[in-house]
Amino acid sequence: MREKVIQTKSRSRNRTLNCSPQEIYALSRELVYLMSDISLKTIENKIINQDIFEAAPHLPIGFVDMLVLDPPYNLSKNYNGYLFKAKEHSEYQEWFAGVVRLLKPMLKPTATVYVCSDWRTSVLIAPVLTGEFRIQNRIAWEREKGRGAKSNWKNNTEDIWFCTVSEQYTFNVDAVKLKRKVIAPYRTADGSPKDWQEEAGGNFRLTHPSNIWTDITIPFWSMPENTKHPTQKPEKLIAKLVLASSDPGRWC
Ligand SMILES: C[S@@+](CC[C@H](N)C(=O)[O-])C[C@H]1O[C@@H](n2cnc3c(N)ncnc32)[C@H](O)[C@@H]1O
Repeated sequence: MREKVIQTKSRSRNRTLNCSPQEIYALSRELVYLMSDISLKTIENKIINQDIFEAAPHLPIGFVDMLVLDPPYNLSKNYNGYLFKAKEHSEYQEWFAGVVRLLKPMLKPTATVYVCSDWRTSVLIAPVLTGEFRIQNRIAWEREKGRGAKSNWKNNTEDIWFCTVSEQYTFNVDAVKLKRKVIAPYRTADGSPKDWQEEAGGNFRLTHPSNIWTDITIPFWSMPENTKHPTQKPEKLIAKLVLASSDPGRWC
């Protein structure tokens, strides 16, 4: 009996999003599938649900301000029916280079490109990115998940490569500053706080965001954004990229 109660309780805490067949039907009607060249208006605020190699040739040239690429991390996985098979290193590198070369013509000269990877694929994609873009930085995202390893360091980070097409690009640093507790609050000669604020909960400062991100977790099953997708990225992570690298009101 006790076990049953605990099970029911834990089930009710699981907030994983599931779509009913009716919802799948209604939402699928919003998806776009490209069969011929299209104008920007056709895909504005739409999701293209198609193999990128099939869809990309129909997209306009030079319209993208910001591109976030989250390719398969070279592991054999079933993405809701789409099977990705792990490849030899050189084959994966060629496949990724093919994706980048396919999408590059769609970028504006001022565009930003973010690419997610794990440490294994990072070393394979880095030479491709170096050849095609200007690499501005590599963000290490602390992605706490899973058990520790007995004979290795626990794998706890993912890379997000920050690349641009040229040296002219958008970066709104103020939109992504972090609120941090001030350890040694410095005061000016007249006694007022220097670059920090006194608040009810303590003394805080807005600091420049670094390339180590420890403030965003993966979407755990107890979070309302969680889905069954095996490698789902958190909304907050995408929000941080969009806030930094696009301007309010601009479509990207
Ligand atoms: C690492 S997952 C991305 C996870 C996603 N960012 C999220 O937050 O849920 C890789 C994705 O690439 C997709 N994919 C792989 N090959 C593709 C292709 N040729 N065209 C379009 N999508 C592809 C897979 O279906 C999978 O959803």
